[in-house]
Amino acid sequence: FKDMVAGMMGWQVLLFFSMLSLGVVHGQVSYSIPEELKKGSLIGNIAQDLGLGVDRLRSGKAHIYTGNTDEYIELKRDRGVLLIKDRIDREALCGQTMPCALHFQMILENPMEFFTVTVEITDINDNPPTFERSEMKFEIPESALTGARFVLEKAIDDDVGVNGLSSYALKPSDNFALKTISRSDGTKHVEMVLQKPLDRENHEHISLILTALDGGEPQLSGTMQIVITVLDANDNPPICSKPEYKASVAENAPVGTIITTVRATDKDKGNNGKVTYTVSKSGVASLFTIDANSGLLTLTGNVDYEKRRLYELDVQVSDQGGLSDACKVIVDVTDMNDNPPSINIMSNSNTVSENVKPGTVVTMLNIQDPDSNDNGRVMCVINENIPFAIKSTTNNFFSVVTDSDLDRERASEYNITVTCSDEGVPSLSSSVTLTLQISDVNDNAPVFERSSYEAYIVENNTPGLSIFTVKARDADWNQNARVSYILEDSSVNGVPVFSYVSVSADSGVIHAVRSFDYEQIKDFQFRVKAQDGGSPPLSSNVTVKMVIQDQNDNPPQVLYPVQTGGSVVAEMVPRAADVGYLVTKVVAVDVDSGQNAWLSYKLQKATDRALFEVGLQNGEIRTIRQVNDKDAVKQRLTVIVEDNGQPSRSAAVIVNVAVADSFPEVLSEFTDFTHDKEYNDNLTFYLVLALAVVSFLFITCVVVIISVKIYRWRQSRTLFHSNLPVIPYYPPRYSDTLGTGTLQHVYNYEVCRTTDSRKSDCKFGGAGSQNVLIMDPSSTGTMQRIQSEKSILDEPDSPLEVTPQAVSFREVWMLNCQTIHGLRVFCLN
Ligand SMILES: *[C@@H]1O[C@H](CO)[C@@H](O)[C@H](O)[C@H]1NC(C)=O
Ligand SMILES: *[C@@H]1O[C@H](CO)[C@@H](O)[C@H](O)[C@H]1NC(C)=O
Repeated sequence: FKDMVAGMMGWQVLLFFSMLSLGVVHGQVSYSIPEELKKGSLIGNIAQDLGLGVDRLRSGKAHIYTGNTDEYIELKRDRGVLLIKDRIDREALCGQTMPCALHFQMILENPMEFFTVTVEITDINDNPPTFERSEMKFEIPESALTGARFVLEKAIDDDVGVNGLSSYALKPSDNFALKTISRSDGTKHVEMVLQKPLDRENHEHISLILTALDGGEPQLSGTMQIVITVLDANDNPPICSKPEYKASVAENAPVGTIITTVRATDKDKGNNGKVTYTVSKSGVASLFTIDANSGLLTLTGNVDYEKRRLYELDVQVSDQGGLSDACKVIVDVTDMNDNPPSINIMSNSNTVSENVKPGTVVTMLNIQDPDSNDNGRVMCVINENIPFAIKSTTNNFFSVVTDSDLDRERASEYNITVTCSDEGVPSLSSSVTLTLQISDVNDNAPVFERSSYEAYIVENNTPGLSIFTVKARDADWNQNARVSYILEDSSVNGVPVFSYVSVSADSGVIHAVRSFDYEQIKDFQFRVKAQDGGSPPLSSNVTVKMVIQDQNDNPPQVLYPVQTGGSVVAEMVPRAADVGYLVTKVVAVDVDSGQNAWLSYKLQKATDRALFEVGLQNGEIRTIRQVNDKDAVKQRLTVIVEDNGQPSRSAAVIVNVAVADSFPEVLSEFTDFTHDKEYNDNLTFYLVLALAVVSFLFITCVVVIISVKIYRWRQSRTLFHSNLPVIPYYPPRYSDTLGTGTLQHVYNYEVCRTTDSRKSDCKFGGAGSQNVLIMDPSSTGTMQRIQSEKSILDEPDSPLEVTPQAVSFREVWMLNCQTIHGLRVFCLN
């Protein structure tokens, strides 16, 4: 039917128009109806239109002939109208062909007539545009450039004309625009053009609605969903969550300590969004490592606040697509109190003088503690109970100063321990010990061991004898304590004290310079000064009292009866004298003292022992019986006066007693020497013999000495000419007579002295090396005093020479000059 309609179209159209213009044309009628009318709807009154009556239709048995096609229209003969028999869908009937008409015939019988009826079906907008698919999917990389085109499916609208598809719309239109392209064949197709780049990170899935619209009234539309999946491109670098990370780590933290975590994000997907972390390979890379995947930064080495307080790490984050970012990690190293203070001695005096003022700086110290804050704040103290203090001068500088006066004599050395500790918790400390010597200042004078000395010396001492020692101590040191002893100038009985004693400068030994005689001087005082070697020297002095002790060196001396040289004295005893008659009294003295001068008297020899006695204590000679006529006129008594010394000394005195009543009787008796003759002859013989022997010895000595002198003279001449080493000659010991006072013994000695008392060194000859020979054969004479001509001791002012000096050379032979019966027998001087 369609084909038929199409084939007829050419002329049918013409016909149709002619009928329209002519109105009812016999044989033909046309109607125009819209499609989709309801069943039974009236198309037209055909009977009327054809000018036929209903009866004619009825009688003519009018009916419609459509061929074999479906019957959409029915004829109501009764009413003469055409009604819709079935729904007429223009689109189904004609598709896109226009115009669309139904051609059929109405046939009448009786007479047979037929009429052509054309029913034009006009379009109504009953079809919306439709898409074949409800959804279209695209996968577009986000990197797609603007202008990229994507062909969309066309919509189909079965309606025609204005009711057909007229336009498209795409919503939302953010990224894409629609472009409709008309082809030359009149068809249209639609494209989607990328206007704005896609961003997967913003919208990974984009859903668009494509709406197709027709031009009908009301307008109908059809939609299709366009789903766009944006494919990822590595268009996003990884981004650190912070440009700078701050972290801190305590120094000496163990390896593995977590410092911080660096986080970076990459909006891309998959490998494009997979972030790896690296620490740039700088010098500190060995200290820190970062986990490539997690960004965990850990410590792998040892950090030391004192070496470096801050680390700046460059962390690179990168994705697999080659994009990267960098961020910084600033690691602050926090201080731990891991360093004890170090004490540096800047300057140190090992020795300080004891007289320095309090406050004198002894040591300067510099304290370093590399830790910070409290950990590096250092305080120093020194050990207690020493006269030092520590002072903080400026930052980290300390000085040790003297706190009070020093005294080397109390403490000559100090150990100063300086302990410095920081204020960290726990605190660390270190210490150093300085040994300080206190040097001496001459601030102590020598002090004698005793405030005064008393020394005893027995008279007749050897000159040069060391008597005793004074000792002074000096608390100072070395030269300042080196004590010299000096005898202070004074005089004893008008004689300088130097001639009595000398003091050894070094040892303080006091020597007797001369032999003392108790009978001349019993004691004396002098001062010894002790002086140290400091500069200026200090000194002190002490008084020494020298007490000379008596020796029994003097025999008693008989004062009465006087022993005269030529005359004879006799005591008279009258013959009538009674028993106990005091004849005379022997008066004797002893210049010694004490026991040495305690005299006792004894009768040694008497003409008649029975007649006289001597008082033991008082020396009184008394008769012990009645004198009678038979007693000789001339009585001769020998009285021994003896002292009590050890050994005792004695003197003998001859007392002549005349037992007579008249002086002439006495005289005649005493001029007769005869009975004494024998005694005297004997004595004379001995004395002559002794003189001869002595003379011989003397001459021998003289000869020997002269020989020696001549030999020496020749020798020295030879030496003089031969340049041979001079052999010093020591003269034989000389002796000198020191006949001072009542000395019994005379000593010879050599004196060597220097002008420097410190070096004085006296050598004294052996005691009694050569005694003066004193003969006292009768032991009844009195001592002759020996006057020395010249002696060094008597002349203390004489120059003191170093060289041994022969003081004098004398040999004295002394015989007691004895007077017997008024006659000088021998007296050789
Ligand atoms: C000082 O120390 C030294 C060495 O330890 C020691 O020999 C000395 O006796 C000490 N001195 C004092 C005064 O303590
Ligand atoms: C001896 O010492 C005393 C004090 O002990 C002093 O007064 C006197 O001046 C000193 N004498 C001499 C001669 O130095």
